Amino acid sequence: MTSAIGRQTETDRGHTAAGFDVLAVRSDFPILQTTVNGKPLIYLDSAATAQTPSAVIDAVVRYYNNDNANIHRGVHTLSVRATNMYESARAKAAALIGAKRPEEMIFVRSATEAINLVAQTYARDHIKPGDEVLVSEMEHHSNIVPWQLLCEQTGAVLRVAPMNDAGELRLDEYEHLLGARTKIVAVTQVSNALGTINPICDITRMAHEHGACVVVDGAQAVPHIKVDVCELDADFYAFSSHKFFGPTGVGMLYGKFDLLNSMSPYQGGGEMIRSVTFEKTTYNDVPHKFEAGTPNIAGGVGLGAAIDYVNGLGIEAIVAYEDDLLDYATQALLATPKVTLVGTAAQKAGVLSFNVDGVHPHDVGTMLDQDGIAIRTGHHCAQPVMDHFGIPATCRASLAFYNTRAEIDALVVSLRKVQEVFA
Ligand code: ALA
Repeated sequence: MTSAIGRQTETDRGHTAAGFDVLAVRSDFPILQTTVNGKPLIYLDSAATAQTPSAVIDAVVRYYNNDNANIHRGVHTLSVRATNMYESARAKAAALIGAKRPEEMIFVRSATEAINLVAQTYARDHIKPGDEVLVSEMEHHSNIVPWQLLCEQTGAVLRVAPMNDAGELRLDEYEHLLGARTKIVAVTQVSNALGTINPICDITRMAHEHGACVVVDGAQAVPHIKVDVCELDADFYAFSSHKFFGPTGVGMLYGKFDLLNSMSPYQGGGEMIRSVTFEKTTYNDVPHKFEAGTPNIAGGVGLGAAIDYVNGLGIEAIVAYEDDLLDYATQALLATPKVTLVGTAAQKAGVLSFNVDGVHPHDVGTMLDQDGIAIRTGHHCAQPVMDHFGIPATCRASLAFYNTRAEIDALVVSLRKVQEVFA
């Protein structure tokens, strides 16, 4: 490789020597070999959508070439093969996050749908007027709006746990907000806008002491840290495939088996029934009770391949590599004049939100794009986070295990160019 990004820096060579061969990993991702605006692509927007390795793309193509059929419905060979592949992906997803059994994993179309499912089934069945739902100030809109809808429907009250100016939840305040009326605690494990890793074990312990059910948004956590839903004692846990190097349009909801078993169905239709008459319909077993209609089968197969790929790299190696890269990037941005980091929690994963003095984030993003650098700019679907800091938007560089120190160096060079243009 001859591009600045393909070239190893001394420090990237250090990583290779330490056992994580980032350049070999990058060669697994076709899109990382492409150019944008005549420059090698530097992809720093994995928190929005992570890139997919050939192993995932090939699995989806293989599925369509060889196995495509509807699942759970046919006795013919293709249907059986497709069913086995889809169910095998469910089992891999269960193992990935430490679920006790595959039946605890529901296929949905996104983490957003997973949270809406819990709000409209478990929560709607259990909430009465005056009950409380506790969210945090750093939630993605997907972990706020479903609960606001629920509150409008039921007369429940939304409470908000605050964070400090580093972007860390204030656990003392959290504790005060919990009480006998708290029925649901909805919290993100990793903030998409700030990168903060929240102490979920502490939160579930406190919430369970008050009898509340805990719904964890794991969309930004699963790609970056080792997740064990039993250790976390999460009642529900949501994540999505496309942030985990898999296809778009697929997500997973984990729920403790007894909770799922006791819940009303979410949507009516095919596959979720046991029998239908005009007088009465009975429902299928968990997880199928929650999976009405033909799902994104190829997407599920692709997610299974993504899980295999990540397992092949090893989550421990990924965590060590990314921690180091995040630290390098943090130091690099702190050393760049007129750049202010937003979100400086002690425990972070994968995200650097920042602003450049006197330059609107959209202008920063547009100029970086000219250098082939993809970041996200805006409120990141977390407007309350922006309100906390009194800003309309940030620039967000988000990392994955395929990013390099050379790419961070290129980001800093490009940011300096932005400053010269706007000086
Ligand atoms: N939730 C995604 C993000 O943070 C879209 O960018």
